[in-house]
Amino acid sequence: MPLVTSTEMFKKAYEGGYAIGAFNVNNMEIVQGITEACKEEKAPVILQVSKGARAYANHTYLVKLVEAAVIECPEIPIVLHLDHGPDFETCKSCIDGGFTSVMIDASSKPFEENIEITKKVVEYAHDHGVVVEAELGTLAGIEDDVKVAAHAASYTRPEEVEEFVSKTGCDSLAIAIGTSHGAYKFTPDQCTRNEKGILVPPPLRFDVLEEVSKRLPGFPIVLHGSSSVPQDYVKMVNEHGGKMPDAVGIPEEQLRKAATLSVCKINIDSDLRLTMTGTIRQFFDEHPDKFDPREYLKPARANIKETVRHKLVDVLGCAGKA
Ligand code: G3H
Ligand code: 13P
Ligand code: ZN
Repeated sequence: MPLVTSTEMFKKAYEGGYAIGAFNVNNMEIVQGITEACKEEKAPVILQVSKGARAYANHTYLVKLVEAAVIECPEIPIVLHLDHGPDFETCKSCIDGGFTSVMIDASSKPFEENIEITKKVVEYAHDHGVVVEAELGTLAGIEDDVKVAAHAASYTRPEEVEEFVSKTGCDSLAIAIGTSHGAYKFTPDQCTRNEKGILVPPPLRFDVLEEVSKRLPGFPIVLHGSSSVPQDYVKMVNEHGGKMPDAVGIPEEQLRKAATLSVCKINIDSDLRLTMTGTIRQFFDEHPDKFDPREYLKPARANIKETVRHKLVDVLGCAGKA
């Protein structure tokens, strides 16, 4: 089947109590690892491209890689989505250039300005058969002030969501309930330690999610910053020359719970980066004489496939839903 929008996917995910995985793609091996897992597990998937990915790999290369995946995996629905579109021009360029879904991220702007920019993108996108994800609330990132991340002011304010969705006409809404971008989502002092000495982050704000869902019944909610930062891969990185102290992510049980509620799209990027980097570091450590990129990219691609398979089956619940 050709590239699809996420409309039908989200409807089924909402009703079925599961979420669609949205994985960031930057090169051929990542596209292949993700889509091979989805094909084998019969899972619908969203392949998303950031501004940084377009700058790195070039729009046309990424679109053609995704089109190749569509040809290789005719039995699963695939969406091509712009992740964190920073402005109208970038969204327009992706809409004109073959994407079936875009995100306009004006969440750092004042409420009224966010509405205005999002509405403009929605009008253009809908005229071209493309769907739009918008964002309300501020997610922390590794570069952000941790105090802001911990502060209630950064969470989505449920009392704003109905006005935002009705005025913009957006098709899905990313909200901030305590997830955060990158591999260092929380500082050690924001966490507690379990009996094994592993850092346990503060729980997601399910009360905020439930209040949002009550105000937007049936409406698809999106979670960004939802990597779990698997400690096996952090260990692999650290044992093979890397230095990633105190990297910590979102516990998978909490994402599983969110997927059974109104969350229909869960964004995962850092876990794939960690998988690829850990595998390549280990390869070079064990084979210092090797220099053929195919030899180290092959196990990296294979491990990305297994990381994605685990997400589809054990976290998102979307295996078998294609
Ligand atoms: O949320 C951002 C994604 O992880 C993409 O990251 O901007 O480095 O491509 P990037
Ligand atoms: P992670 O950094 O947690 O993988 O989040 C990715 C993301 O939200 C992409 O938009
Ligand atoms: Zn994001």
